[in-house]
Amino acid sequence: MGCPLRPVNSFALIKFKTFGMRSYSLIAPAKINLHLEILGDRSDGYHELAMVMQSIDLADHITLRSLDIDAIRVRCDSSEVPDDSNNLAYKAAALMFQQFPDVFAQYGGIEINIQKRIPVAAGLAGGSANAAAVLVGIDLIWQLGLTQAELQGLGAQLGSDVPFCVAGGTALATGRGEELSPLPDLDNLYVVLAKYRSLEVSTAWAYKTYRHLFSSSYISDPKGLEARAARVHSGPLVQAIARRNGAKIGQLLYNDLEKVVLPAHPQVAQLKNAFSSTNTLGTMMSGSGPTVFALAESRPQAEEIQEQVKKVIPDPDLGFWIAQLTTSGIRVTQ
Ligand code: C5P
Repeated sequence: MGCPLRPVNSFALIKFKTFGMRSYSLIAPAKINLHLEILGDRSDGYHELAMVMQSIDLADHITLRSLDIDAIRVRCDSSEVPDDSNNLAYKAAALMFQQFPDVFAQYGGIEINIQKRIPVAAGLAGGSANAAAVLVGIDLIWQLGLTQAELQGLGAQLGSDVPFCVAGGTALATGRGEELSPLPDLDNLYVVLAKYRSLEVSTAWAYKTYRHLFSSSYISDPKGLEARAARVHSGPLVQAIARRNGAKIGQLLYNDLEKVVLPAHPQVAQLKNAFSSTNTLGTMMSGSGPTVFALAESRPQAEEIQEQVKKVIPDPDLGFWIAQLTTSGIRVTQ
C-alpha cells in the first residue's frame, strides 16, 4: 500500500533524477532477553526495567529503495504484518521524513520490502528490528551520516526496543529499555525458539497485568532504581557472560513477565516444562512472550532439544527455529 505524503516541488524532482535511484539491503536480527526485571513505574506510563538483551541470527531481510513518488510503500511476504501506517517500519520512514523534510524533498519516497523470518508478536522485537533497519537504511540512502547514538535517539521515539536493535550484540538496557550499556560479546551459544503460531501476546497487556498484580513491590525512589540496575550490571549473569560460561548463563536466565504470561497461557507454561526436561543449559520466555527459548552449547545440541520437545508436544501449530547468538545489530549486505 502506498500512502501519499505531500507534493514534491519540481526542483526536488530534478534533483532526485540527478541522484538516481538508490537501494540498500539490510539484515535485521531478532533479540531475546537473558534477563528482564521490572523495577518500577515511570511518569510516562512505561516501566523502569533492567534487562540483558541479546541479538540472535534469526533475522528479517529488508530492502529499501528510493521512489520517484512522494510516498512510503511497505511490502511484506507475511500476511500477518500490516502494510500500512500501523507497521513500525512505515513509522520509522515517516519519522525520518518528518525530521529531514528538505532531504526528503530531494530524494523522494521510500519502498520498504520486508522478508519476514522473525515470528510476529512473539517477544523477539521483530517489528523493532525492522524499524531500526529502516532508520539505518534511510540514513545511508540520504547520505545523512547520522551517528549510532542519533539513530538510537530517533529509534526511542518509535519503541523501547528499537535503540537496542540498531546496535545489537549483548547489552544492559535500563530506563524504558532505551538506555544501553554494551556488555562483552556473546556468540558461542545457540538457541532453540518455540512459539505457537496462532498465539500472540500483547506487550501492553503483559505490562498492565504485571502492574496490577505486583506494583506494591515496585521501587519508587530514583536512587533505589539506580542501585538495582547497577546490581544487575555487576551481577552474576553479566559475569557469566564475560566468561562465556553457557552453563551459568543458562541457570541465571530471568523474566518477570513469565509471572503473568505463563498463568494466562498454560500451553506456554507446558512448553517451558517440556524444554526444562531436555538437555538444555536453561530455558525462559523471551520479552512479553509467548516465544520460549532454550540455550544450547552447539547446533547439534539445539537440534536434539528441538526433537525432544517435538516428541513431547507433537502440535503442528508449534513452530521451531534454531539460531546462534550474534554480536551484530543492523547490517548492510549491499
Ligand atoms: O515501547 P513499546 O511500544 O515496545 O512498548 C509496548 C508497550 O509495552 C507499551 O505501550 C507499554 O504498555 C509497555 N511497556 C512498559 N514499559 C516499558 C516498555 C514497554 O510498560 N519499559
